Amino acid sequence: MIPTIRRVAATPFTVGLMAFAALSAMLSVSAPASADALQQQAQAVFGSGEAPPRQSSAVEAALGRVLFFDTRIGRDGTNCGTCHEQSKGGADGRKTALGAFGRQGKRNTPTIVDIVPQISMHWTGDRESLADQAIRALTAPPAYAHASADEALAVIKALPDLNERFNALYDDGVTAANWGKALSAYQEHLVTTSAFDRYLQGDAQALNTAQKEGLKTFINTGCAGCHNGRLLGGTSYQKFGIVADYTQYIGSQEDIGRMAFTGKESDRRVFKVPPLRHVVQTAPYFHDGSVAELKDAIDIMAKVQLGRTLSDDDNQAIQTFLQAVTAPMPAELQRP
Ligand code: HEC
Ligand code: HEC
Repeated sequence: MIPTIRRVAATPFTVGLMAFAALSAMLSVSAPASADALQQQAQAVFGSGEAPPRQSSAVEAALGRVLFFDTRIGRDGTNCGTCHEQSKGGADGRKTALGAFGRQGKRNTPTIVDIVPQISMHWTGDRESLADQAIRALTAPPAYAHASADEALAVIKALPDLNERFNALYDDGVTAANWGKALSAYQEHLVTTSAFDRYLQGDAQALNTAQKEGLKTFINTGCAGCHNGRLLGGTSYQKFGIVADYTQYIGSQEDIGRMAFTGKESDRRVFKVPPLRHVVQTAPYFHDGSVAELKDAIDIMAKVQLGRTLSDDDNQAIQTFLQAVTAPMPAELQRP
């Protein structure tokens, strides 16, 4: 059984230590003799292939969907769907987000499909939950750009169709908490089943030979030490650049990451390990979208996190595996 790194206290030292410990533990696990052994190993690292039980109803999710795409709430019409698009794997295909009033954000837009469960939201984990994320988007300058949550809620209350839908569903009608609930519900329902999920659920034939080789390479290289759990990420915070300075490889300036949120020097360059489920559909890569190709992102990860140089075959194998952990975007992500 492979140890996974979970909720590690992220000092650069312990992070490095844990990654190396995980790596050496992995290297000492001999390659599984049969597909069954590989399947069991994968289940230990990534879980059962089942989505976690939903906390919300389909009716709440339906209201959330309407709100997600409504162009009347944001100060200049910007809405969640402006940046989280079905045709872009739930992201926007840009290096960094282009938001309200043409404002360029500083971070890359992640997907919002298959993002539960995670320890927190955003690249640095500065949003506690889906609800917290949605509520604070109302006042975020690149998103809805309102001066206060109350100003945003007043706009919603003044739209009779929305006001009515809130009242039908919640006793207290339009409130920030209910806005958060509805949007969490919608996103919680954006769940897909990939070939890899079916494999984890027990169908040994769900992955072909090349995809199984890729899975082995992903585990044996050490990627799964950080990219683990149902989402292949979202389970821990880790330093970007454990064995080498990432800025040298991605060609951009230092982003201090989680330190900007916690104020702790030990969180310098620490980021939440991003989920990789739909990563083949969400180029460009990394927190600032500075790397265009998945192949390059994988090589950089091996170098700066694990101190390894991947052969072209190993890189290709990992890409082939990542193809098997994605799936077509859910129909509910279409703008209604
Ligand atoms: C201007 C483009 C833009 C808009 C509008 C926008 N987002 Fe995002 N979204 C982003 C970016 C960029 C990030 C990453 C921010 C960060 O990590 O600092 C993000 C992150 C997220 C995340 C975190 C995903 C994860 O795995 O950590 C969720 C959830 C999310 N957005 C949902 C929403 C919802 C709901 C709305 C509408 C209320 C919305 N977004 C509006 C660009 C946008
Ligand atoms: C020590 C932990 C750790 C290890 C080991 C690790 N990663 Fe990562 N990975 C991260 C972190 C943290 C990030 C976010 C970096 C950033 O700030 O952009 C990341 C980002 C990525 C991204 C970009 C995701 C996106 O949406 O932009 C890919 C792809 C990726 N990793 C693949 C891999 C592969 C393949 C391996 C093995 C060769 C690997 N990682 C090993 C921690 C790790």
